[in-house]
Amino acid sequence: MKRIAVLTSGGDCSGMNAAVRAVVRAGLASEVEVIGIQKGFQGLIDRLYEIMSTKSVSNILQRGGTFLQSARCAEMKTEAGLQLASENLKGMGVEGLIVIGGDGSLIGGYAIHRKGIPVIGIPASIDNDIPFTDMSLGVDTALNNIVSAVDNLKDTASSHDRAFVVETMGRNCGYLAVVATIAAGAEYSLIPEEPYDLEKICADLRRRYREGRSNSIIMVAEGAGKAQDIADQIKDRIGFETRVIVLGHYQRGGSPTVFDRLLAARFGQAAVENLLKGNYGKMVGLQASNIILTGLEKVVSSDHREIDPMLALLAKQLSI
Ligand code: F6P
Repeated sequence: MKRIAVLTSGGDCSGMNAAVRAVVRAGLASEVEVIGIQKGFQGLIDRLYEIMSTKSVSNILQRGGTFLQSARCAEMKTEAGLQLASENLKGMGVEGLIVIGGDGSLIGGYAIHRKGIPVIGIPASIDNDIPFTDMSLGVDTALNNIVSAVDNLKDTASSHDRAFVVETMGRNCGYLAVVATIAAGAEYSLIPEEPYDLEKICADLRRRYREGRSNSIIMVAEGAGKAQDIADQIKDRIGFETRVIVLGHYQRGGSPTVFDRLLAARFGQAAVENLLKGNYGKMVGLQASNIILTGLEKVVSSDHREIDPMLALLAKQLSI
């Protein structure tokens, strides 16, 4: 291959810039020209791209978001859009494509692959719901953002005997809420994967209040309900005054952690290496510290990644 392309798609996350940098530099090191497609799949349809040099990706490693920009592109879900995107890629002389994004983006990448363009996917989404990888890019940074926010909330909560209901992102996956519960020492995580009993939660919180605890934190994954609704239901029933925080897009930004920078470097390099070796139609992933490859067809036709039951149990055991 003489020319490959890279794009970032779907919801941005920290580490995307570091992954683009790794793709560009690993490509150039193998004497392959790399072009950066702007605004995700939309840029493929609108032919928005630039030829990357080693300088184009200098000083971006430490930045959150994506300098190539991203978009959620409805046109890519149509046959006409897909056809146009593939023809444009061929017209640009692109022989291989690296797609950095979440589950929807990997579906798009697989569809392009089926149109005859070799594709490798890099899993990047704070939700950590993509199967066949222990961690997606951006998850660790998002968790650090959440934990730092909860640490701050605990300071103010304990000054007033308050409970905070904290809503995390994650779409239909409760991973962020569960891991943040363990790492920030919250009392509960309400997640879409498990039913919860608000009566029991209120009884536990009342007990904590009677024991003289100064605060309580209830994490709610967005797929499990709205923090405000939960707060309205527990208000006046637990002793603690109640406040609500929806962390929202705050979780997605910020400088990537070392974990995400290293993962981005390893994913980016492995994506280029395998594309050039002819191992395409695959997604790179992390399993037990090793970089592995899984067929894109298998990735997009499998259920979302499940939360390790041991983590859910740990969150419960440590929050009594
Ligand atoms: O998939 C990543 C994610 O941040 C989800 O956690 C969230 O539900 C969604 O994207 C938000 O999407 P948008 O950025 O389009 O508001």
